[in-house]
Amino acid sequence: MPVTQTLEADVLRRQDPELAEILLGELDRQSTTLQLIAAENFTSPAVLAALGSPLANKYAEGYPGARHHGGCEIVDVAERVAIDRARSLFGADHANVQSHSGSSAVLAAYAALLRPGDTVLAMGLAFGGHLTHGSPANFSGRWFDFVGYGVEADTGLIDYEQVRALARTHRPKAVVCGSISYPRHIDYAAFREIADEVGAYLIADAAHPIGLVAGGAAPNPVPYADVVCATTHKVLRGPRGGMILCGAELAERVDRAVFPFTQGGAQMHTIAAKAVAFGEAATPAFRAYAHQVVAHARTLAAALEAEGLAITTGGTDTHLLTADPAPLGVEGRTARGRLAAAGMVLDTCALPHGDARGLRLGTAALTTQGMGDAEMERIAVLFAGVLRDDIDGRQAREEVRELTGRFPPYPG
Ligand SMILES: Cc1ncc(COP(=O)(O)O)c(C=O)c1O
Repeated sequence: MPVTQTLEADVLRRQDPELAEILLGELDRQSTTLQLIAAENFTSPAVLAALGSPLANKYAEGYPGARHHGGCEIVDVAERVAIDRARSLFGADHANVQSHSGSSAVLAAYAALLRPGDTVLAMGLAFGGHLTHGSPANFSGRWFDFVGYGVEADTGLIDYEQVRALARTHRPKAVVCGSISYPRHIDYAAFREIADEVGAYLIADAAHPIGLVAGGAAPNPVPYADVVCATTHKVLRGPRGGMILCGAELAERVDRAVFPFTQGGAQMHTIAAKAVAFGEAATPAFRAYAHQVVAHARTLAAALEAEGLAITTGGTDTHLLTADPAPLGVEGRTARGRLAAAGMVLDTCALPHGDARGLRLGTAALTTQGMGDAEMERIAVLFAGVLRDDIDGRQAREEVRELTGRFPPYPG
């Protein structure tokens, strides 16, 4: 109700019909195609309301009780609520909720713990590491000396003994665990042990699984990592943004690394929206949702495997799965284009072996829409049919339209 009605009734329509049309067009796109991008979700109308609130007008450099601007008494309360909710949700001594994005959170974590030129051990980009884990196109690869660990070519699993061996050889100042496409739980205790053995900090980049952690459907990195970086907009279903969790001993360093070192004024409307999302994530309904997301990813993986796709690691523990479409005679990039034309929106990803691209799919958004196992199975049939070319793209597009019509993300 609120999304379309706000847009329809809103001044934007009268004042700037061009932009109103664009916003409604995007709402229509999101509502009539399948959002299989593992990093996306549909936030609640309450989160959208906070994002579109007058808190967007407020300048608030600094932290609650210690701002560089006047008039912060109300937004201070909003930030304190967000911090308290994040701490309680994840069992962390300290939470910084100001990071503008997951990348900003990682930048601040490095700034808090490292010096330019330090060695960092992280998952290699060719295996699912994020740009902030040492890409030469990113600050991380320019300012630090990254060493990459991989996954086993045959199983797709992290080889913890390889990580240990690389740590012993390179003596990194920090070890990073976390990925954009690893479908299995990460063994944080094993990473902690490896980091301790070489005297390194452990940074968990939990951008992807943090929503599952909130819902009790994935292990919590907080007890193991020195610093946990995360996004708030994936399974967690909050606004686009980042956060950092850490122990009391690093709290001041982390806060100073966010502001004033890497960011300026906090985005108070986003922080309020993060607080709303943390509140939602603390409910039994979200717990059930997080477990459903994983169950649906498992169903989707099994159904795609039955259709002939090769599923990395043979399945998933999380909200995402990665698949090689090569057995159906199509490469990842071509597959993504064909699926997009049929209304199935997803990303390509690295595969554990070779240069060919795979496909990364997630079930967070579909589950928010209310889809279940039956829909996952039907999507897998459509998906493989389009790739094999035995379901016509236009026919698949019509079926996707019919399916999404039964599960509107913003009813009304
Ligand atoms: C592991 C990991 N780290 C960092 C990020 C960066 O998040 P953002 O796009 O908000 O900067 C992502 C985003 O997908 C991610 O998957």
